[in-house]
Amino acid sequence: MDTLTDIRFVRGRIAAWKREGHKLAFVPTMGNLHTGHASLIARARELAPRVVVSVFVNPLQFGPGEDFERYPRTPANDATMLEEGGADILFAPTADEMYPSGAGRTAIVDVPDLADQLEGRFRPGHFAGVCTVVAKLFNIVQPDFAVFGEKDFQQLVVIRRMVRDLCMPIEIVGAPIVRAEDGLALSSRNQYLDPRERATAPRLNETLRCARERLLAGEGSVHEIESKASSELVEAGFRPDYVTIRRATDLRPAQPGDRDLVILATARLGAVRLLDNLRVDLASR
Ligand code: PAF
Repeated sequence: MDTLTDIRFVRGRIAAWKREGHKLAFVPTMGNLHTGHASLIARARELAPRVVVSVFVNPLQFGPGEDFERYPRTPANDATMLEEGGADILFAPTADEMYPSGAGRTAIVDVPDLADQLEGRFRPGHFAGVCTVVAKLFNIVQPDFAVFGEKDFQQLVVIRRMVRDLCMPIEIVGAPIVRAEDGLALSSRNQYLDPRERATAPRLNETLRCARERLLAGEGSVHEIESKASSELVEAGFRPDYVTIRRATDLRPAQPGDRDLVILATARLGAVRLLDNLRVDLASR
């Protein structure tokens, strides 16, 4: 595996692969890699013979008062994990390399509407930051496939829309959430949980599972099921930002007759904001 920090060296390597006719899969990350990321890299390896992984903690997607400064950075472990996972290039640019005009002055890519709801309401500008860095990384790497975790479900939907709207010739591939044995979705931010919070955290996934059972059993309206799940989270000690049932394709509120749904929840436990989601196929009833 080559570790590259310069855009022009990445472009050079990739141009050579393309001349040789190799397809390329890309996994963008912010590092602090764990088993969830390993599954994205494994998926990328299934898709194409060449795999590029980026590690870049993107300042543009963090709001004021968020954890940009203390976001865990573990470059040595990341490199070992990528080497073992079979990545061909680790692209780890500096902020100056990615934002030569300064992060505050860069051209922005935004997906209005989709990006302003749910996470966008609580983290204004977050998805513009994500889309801008992902669009730049796509321009640099020019992958055939790009793999994103379904844990950040809204991010996946927003990126799909960006790629469609901007005619980017890239197939976006979603990879299933990887969970701890007790159901907690793996996330770099789980390490901020203290032991008591860590013991409570799986209740988020349990609550979503109950909501899914109720939906499948037709026990109440969408609104009633959302409210019940939200109350259950409060009882368990969370401060939910939202629990909502949406159409999986475009995140519009679920309407009677919709079949392919997703239950999305974000809830705070102490100082940590946890995200989770669960797909529901009402056609399977
Ligand atoms: O999901 C993430 O880790 C980040 O949002 C991404 C896609 C790497 C962009 O910085």
